[in-house]
Amino acid sequence: MPESRRDCLKLILFGGASLMAGAVTARAGVDEKDRLLGADLFGPTHEQRISWWREARFGMFIHWGPYSLLAGEWKGKLYDGIGEWIMYKARIPLADYEHLAAHFNPVKFDAEAWVQLAQDAGMKYLIITSKHHDGFAMFGSKVDQFNIVDATPFKRDPMKELAAACARRNIRLGFYYSQAQDWHAPGGAIWKGPHENDPVYAVPQWDPKQNGDFDTYFNTKVIPQIRELLSNYGPIAVIWFDTPLGVMNVERATRLEKLVRELQPNCLISGRLGGKFQSDYDSEGDNSIPNLSRAGAWETPATLNDTWGFKKSDHNWKEPADITFKLVDIVSKGGNYLLNIGPDGEGVIPQPSQDILRAVGRWLKVNGEAIYGAGRSPFGQEFGSFSKIKVDKDGKPQFEPRNEWRCTTKPDRLYVHIFQWPTLGRLDLPAVKFNIAKAYLLADPSQTALGVKPTATGVTIALPSSAPDPIASVVCLETMKTEAMRYSSRLQSERSL
Ligand code: GLC
Repeated sequence: MPESRRDCLKLILFGGASLMAGAVTARAGVDEKDRLLGADLFGPTHEQRISWWREARFGMFIHWGPYSLLAGEWKGKLYDGIGEWIMYKARIPLADYEHLAAHFNPVKFDAEAWVQLAQDAGMKYLIITSKHHDGFAMFGSKVDQFNIVDATPFKRDPMKELAAACARRNIRLGFYYSQAQDWHAPGGAIWKGPHENDPVYAVPQWDPKQNGDFDTYFNTKVIPQIRELLSNYGPIAVIWFDTPLGVMNVERATRLEKLVRELQPNCLISGRLGGKFQSDYDSEGDNSIPNLSRAGAWETPATLNDTWGFKKSDHNWKEPADITFKLVDIVSKGGNYLLNIGPDGEGVIPQPSQDILRAVGRWLKVNGEAIYGAGRSPFGQEFGSFSKIKVDKDGKPQFEPRNEWRCTTKPDRLYVHIFQWPTLGRLDLPAVKFNIAKAYLLADPSQTALGVKPTATGVTIALPSSAPDPIASVVCLETMKTEAMRYSSRLQSERSL
């Protein structure tokens, strides 16, 4: 369905556009399929831009910078909270942070190994901090010397190396960029609160060098650095903005949006740009998964322990089974999972995070068809329900989640992910709207048919006595062709919501 007047025009002019195709020079980032759809005349639609992302479902987030070297400790004191905020938390003077950068020499950084890990985990895209709130550019920037090439003994540009490794391995590359907060550039915004009662944080600035004008910072650092990132590193899949604070008004956000669209029309803009309506998908809160299914495009950014940037004291690693559940839970509610690693100051990815990701990757090798390109559950009761008695801290009915099973979908298939293997040798499902042609376990290479019987309340599937996979076993239900087609068209219209 056309999204706007512009898209209607595109349809009307489509014949003309294809005649002219030879005469039009394709714009950067417009691939062949989009070009044939007239994207080189009008730019891709939101749907064209985002289709790969909807397929991908699982991405790697990387938080890495000079803060990784501090690993949560400053002048002998361990700071609580997320590691990449240590400059703010410990009120580190700019000169000291520059001195730290001058010792940042991550000689063990290996772009190939990092991208290989993303691939082993079954992740399809990778988003790395090109500049976090500390203002330090993790790429060679001509507009600010405070960058990894000019201000460290390392002198290499890890973003260049990652771009090359991603291109070789077919992983899409995206850049996190802190557009509003910058604790190093004069005039950069600094978060206020919720520390109002703590005198240490009452004044946002802690170094006179931070004083300055936001627009000067925006014009001389943000705009030119985004230009550099979108000009020097090949096709960029996503620009992941963060913490817009009050300063990212409609005008400033629109300038950034226009710049991204002009330089790389296929690049997605994540949900934290600010200034309303400019982004391609919503970002859920950190580590937050909605209780119920959600329409539209959205992503949950999440950690493997309790920090984004490396902290030597944080060993609170989640179990592979928990991460796998979260991945399935998110996909079954219609979202993407962006899962973080925090390499250390030498460029080494902590072994526990490598182990967890590889375990998830092994599960995906067998069950990936139920995740990639899969849509949300047609049921809903499996997520849980709101309590009639208990209330949450806001006085609203408390949600009581369930986690026995989840369901993902494709036009002619339902996938039931079983996390708690039923002891009765059968799986009872609520009524399905389709006739089931065949049921089998994805872990069974011979696809032996499982018995399917209608019941008074739905359908029951006969299961072997023990689960083939200790984390989650997936039953694929193939549906009848005609119904599958009807469902597929419903799914299509739902996708354009
Ligand atoms: C928060 C934090 C930030 C982190 C981000 C990840 O907004 O400010 O440090 O990068 O979440 O989603």
